[in-house]
Amino acid sequence: MQDYHSLIAGKWVKSSKKLKIENPANQKIIGYLYDVGSQGAKKAIEAAHNAFPNWSGNTAKYRSDILKKWYSLIKKNKKEISKIITLESGKPLKESEAEVEYGASFIEWFAEQSLRVSGEIFNSPDIKKKMMTIKQPIGVVSAITPWNFPLAMVTRKTSAAMACGCTVVLKPSELTPITSIKLAELALKAGVPPGVLNVVNGNPKIIGKSLSTHPFVKKITFTGSTLVGKLLMRNASNTVKSVSLELGGNAPFVVFDDSNLENAVNGLIDSKFRNAGQTCISANRVFVQESVEKKFLDLLINKIESLKIGDGMKNSDIGPLINTKAILKLKSHIKDALKKGANLLCGGSVSTVGELFFQPTVLSNITSKMMAFNNENFGPLVPIILFKNDESLIKMCNDTSYGLAAYFYSQNSKRIWNISEKLEFGMVGVNTGKISTYLNPFGGFKESGIGREGSTDGLEAFLEKKYISWDQN
Ligand code: SIN
Repeated sequence: MQDYHSLIAGKWVKSSKKLKIENPANQKIIGYLYDVGSQGAKKAIEAAHNAFPNWSGNTAKYRSDILKKWYSLIKKNKKEISKIITLESGKPLKESEAEVEYGASFIEWFAEQSLRVSGEIFNSPDIKKKMMTIKQPIGVVSAITPWNFPLAMVTRKTSAAMACGCTVVLKPSELTPITSIKLAELALKAGVPPGVLNVVNGNPKIIGKSLSTHPFVKKITFTGSTLVGKLLMRNASNTVKSVSLELGGNAPFVVFDDSNLENAVNGLIDSKFRNAGQTCISANRVFVQESVEKKFLDLLINKIESLKIGDGMKNSDIGPLINTKAILKLKSHIKDALKKGANLLCGGSVSTVGELFFQPTVLSNITSKMMAFNNENFGPLVPIILFKNDESLIKMCNDTSYGLAAYFYSQNSKRIWNISEKLEFGMVGVNTGKISTYLNPFGGFKESGIGREGSTDGLEAFLEKKYISWDQN
């Protein structure tokens, strides 16, 4: 069984405390992760602090060339990395392969965009004075990443930060650390200098506390639950660190009476069953206009029946959930909904494939009193809510403290514009269930987070703007 360690100042650091890493498809141990604790986190932060002057003091071209080598090495090792992702997260291999492409695309994008970072020179109101701004890297960055995208969430944060000249301490999820360790190995091979990218493994509470309180850390970037995001924000407030947070969602997915229903079903499958529903932007409440209910549900259930549940290594469409807690959450949503009057149209229980596999489930007659309406289910559960008109629909869609992603299907251009404007969500998919690329600003309104990743905004998040007023006398 392989042991996995932390990377601090360019060296793999061992420790005595170990955690099991399990394959969620069969609960078999696939390795041991050594926990470096708060001492390890502190050493990693110091290493990042020491590496900052040289890395940030070099040219953008120098950093860009190294990042491009990292990108190429990841692409070259796509097969091996995809297998690691599937083994530790459970997602189907085809999705892991897509994640390698998606995750690598951030590195290429930020490596290129960093060459274009520039300041401004203003027309000064004072003839003797020159006024300008320059952009500079913010400093040491803590990046805390989730298990559901073990590669893409790491590259979306670290490559943006590193491209700007920041140095990074990464804490990957203890459930899926092997992908990050592989990424770090490739980063060293690509020429990333010691201390520029550090990876600390172990207990998330203890390491998270160090990463969010240490005075050397100038920025925290986190993807995960709203609860933990709020805690990190509180910790960060003592030293007024910059924060970027990608938190929970409660995405509405709307099927209007003028939709192409087959496309809407396919879009819902793309959004809802990606990673077995374990993504922050997965459709979580499906609103169907009354007049198309029967036709839409028939098409949907037919499509769901064709999906293959199974081990991600065996050509499946839906893999396991990450752990028992995830199964219990789904069960509690279903139980609560059925008790309050919902109808079970398909699925509803754990699959015979294995204890962490859940049947794709559709519940109709969902109301705003149910957990399935108010909470992210993070699994293959489709709660159906009927609506009559656009006004009542918008009110229901926005009736949530979250605001990450929303989707709707319609062929009417006036409606498309009106609904897009009124949805209180950071990302809106119109006639599509797939919205994620390196190019779009990824992030949410309300309690779904602060800031944007990817796009040009994702780079700005790691830069400070400095104003210089120069009296030439
Ligand atoms: C997430 O669910 O956390 C990210 C999904 C994405 O980047 O598409």
